[in-house]
Amino acid sequence: MATTYELALEKTKNGTKPEVAAAELVALMTLDEKIHCLDGGVPFWVGIKDITTGGYHSRPFRAAKVERLGIPGFHFSDGPRGLVVGEATAFPVSMARGATFDPELEVRVGDAIGKELRAIGADLYGGICVNLLRHPAWGRAQETYGEDPHHVGEMGASLTRGAQRHVMATLKHFALNSMENARFGVDVKVDERALHEVYLPHFKRIIDEGVACVMTAYNSVNGEWCSQNNILLADILRHEWGFAGFVISDWIFGVHDGVQSLHAGLDVEMPYRMIRNAPIVAALSDGLVTEELVASAVTRTLTTMLKFGVGKLPVSDRSVLLCSEHVLLSQEVAEKSMVLLKNESVDGASLLPLNLKKSSKIAIVGRLAGVRNIGDGGSSDVMAPNVVTPLQGIREHFANCEIVYNSQATLESQVQQAKQSDLAIVVVGYTREEEGEFIGDSPDTVSMAALIPRQDDPDLAREYKNYMIENHHYAPDELRIKSRNGTFSIGGDRESLRLLDADVQLIHAVAKVQPRTIVVIVAGSAVVLSEWINEVPAVLMGWYSGSNGGHALANILSGAVNPSGHLPFVIPYDESHLPFFDRDAKSITYDYWHGQWKLDRDGNKPMFPFGFGWSYTNFSFSNAEIEVSETVKFRCAVLNTGSRDGATVVQIYAGRNNSAVERPKRRLVAFKRVEVRAGETVHVECTAPFQNFATRNIENHSWFVEQGLWNCEIGQFSGDPESLPVALTIRQRIEL
Ligand code: BGC
Repeated sequence: MATTYELALEKTKNGTKPEVAAAELVALMTLDEKIHCLDGGVPFWVGIKDITTGGYHSRPFRAAKVERLGIPGFHFSDGPRGLVVGEATAFPVSMARGATFDPELEVRVGDAIGKELRAIGADLYGGICVNLLRHPAWGRAQETYGEDPHHVGEMGASLTRGAQRHVMATLKHFALNSMENARFGVDVKVDERALHEVYLPHFKRIIDEGVACVMTAYNSVNGEWCSQNNILLADILRHEWGFAGFVISDWIFGVHDGVQSLHAGLDVEMPYRMIRNAPIVAALSDGLVTEELVASAVTRTLTTMLKFGVGKLPVSDRSVLLCSEHVLLSQEVAEKSMVLLKNESVDGASLLPLNLKKSSKIAIVGRLAGVRNIGDGGSSDVMAPNVVTPLQGIREHFANCEIVYNSQATLESQVQQAKQSDLAIVVVGYTREEEGEFIGDSPDTVSMAALIPRQDDPDLAREYKNYMIENHHYAPDELRIKSRNGTFSIGGDRESLRLLDADVQLIHAVAKVQPRTIVVIVAGSAVVLSEWINEVPAVLMGWYSGSNGGHALANILSGAVNPSGHLPFVIPYDESHLPFFDRDAKSITYDYWHGQWKLDRDGNKPMFPFGFGWSYTNFSFSNAEIEVSETVKFRCAVLNTGSRDGATVVQIYAGRNNSAVERPKRRLVAFKRVEVRAGETVHVECTAPFQNFATRNIENHSWFVEQGLWNCEIGQFSGDPESLPVALTIRQRIEL
């Protein structure tokens, strides 16, 4: 017999509005059942023991399940680089995917991840992380797409679109969560223009895409915790943007004041019954919270579940996990993401692509050459087996060459190997130990721990233990999150933007003896390269590149694939050109200025500008046109002037000579990745909505586009001297 929930699903399918079917369902729920849906509904102590002893990433987190009515609840698995429960395909991290500037490819990634989630029963993907990269030291920089709001919004919207073909998706962390060690305690101060023009446009873009769920951030904004922040949750998210999905908290210690969080519009405290339940129960009996308020939160959750068909979503066959289609997609993404930063001539020819004779000797050195290193070891970790390391990829690809590698080699012996070889590939950078989610002790959570119930409700504990047994998707032990102190890798914000001293010493020493030295950097965001870059002819940004990253790297080095990645952030000559960053800050101001925009404003030349990346061919742009109607359309012709097929990214920047308000010299308003065959021309059109030119009116919280002349540029990176200038004249100020 169909359950009450299944009947509601049926009705929704037959045309009843999900919010109506959900309201009917909620009307049948007891008060206890409604309260049960306001948090994970899972006992804290059993849950916490489970996740700290290997259960994290072994099963999806479940919430809002009501047995009596057949409400299945939702089942959350993290991201963003793949399914985190059990063994799955590891995609390159989001920052790498940002470097592809390829929203269509990102839809395919979302589609693949969504399918993999459905193989283990998850129906809520936690991977749409779009906090802006304000500073590259942020430990979780790799989980977002870059420093530019338009670019981040397009990439995140694409991931959402792909994933939501199969599951619901979660947009996180709302908002201004781009510091890691201080995330539980820091207050971010921001004014209205910086908030709406810099830190929120990409969130809005993804809300407009139809994302199902929003996760609040741990930090506070302008003095109020995000999980109970009326301005963020009620005024902006619900009223101004019209978000109709449901809002969940970030995980443990994500909620401070349970009652206030309910009033502000937080629907579910995740993942357990923690801080919220007792105060809400008390407030209900004191009349400080009404049953209607509780019901409205539950209705939003159920409306979304019904709208997406949760409970009856198609289940993927388990063979979809790590299927060759997904692994090859991860490789394609890795190949399109690697950014060629430098490629100079050695003996009259560019060092890359490698032009090797049979039995050439290649020295592979550096501590990251032979290790599985696919990024953060916290919530985004993916238990992919058989990750292809740089060493393995190069060995297999250059099977005719002699590969010299010794994992135990000292600095001296690596230098010797490099000297005696025809070229040296140095693989250096970071691991999850130097950057990633911070899962160490934080003094900021001590007072909250006291608000957690002293003991578990025995019924919940029993139910959860069954769930643990029935839903385990263990990865082999060697792939489970590695511990440094019995729990997780500690990660956190980077201590420095430079490579580790040992890596720098190695580069100096190898470059002295081997003129054909290629440095491959593995990292999740910008690295300052100033102290060594002049000593080597070639540098490649390799990222945390996923399951088949080593194959992708070999294909780029050999020229089997032409590099086409472009930087989703600026690389400065010096860290002082970036905004202030203190990983232990209690309070920090996010103003308008970060990344390329700040360098432009301060007159600091970047080492590598936003959007930059070489190819093994060259492109020239011509025939710029602009057409203004409901949107602004930019057109140009892209000619591949070289002898290899390749791809570039057409980037449109807009600025003004005279502006009534401070604004970036150049702001990205549109972009398009384009493949062009050698010698051929492709005509490209990029569309920018007026919103991408808009200014926030802080008097009445609306938007307008300044009238007058806008200087637009069509180029291959920010400040490209070969950009085509295009004038956009707005006759009359436009109110949006
Ligand atoms: C992270 C979230 C993640 C959650 C669940 C939190 O610590 O901040 O991004 O989704 O854990 O794993």
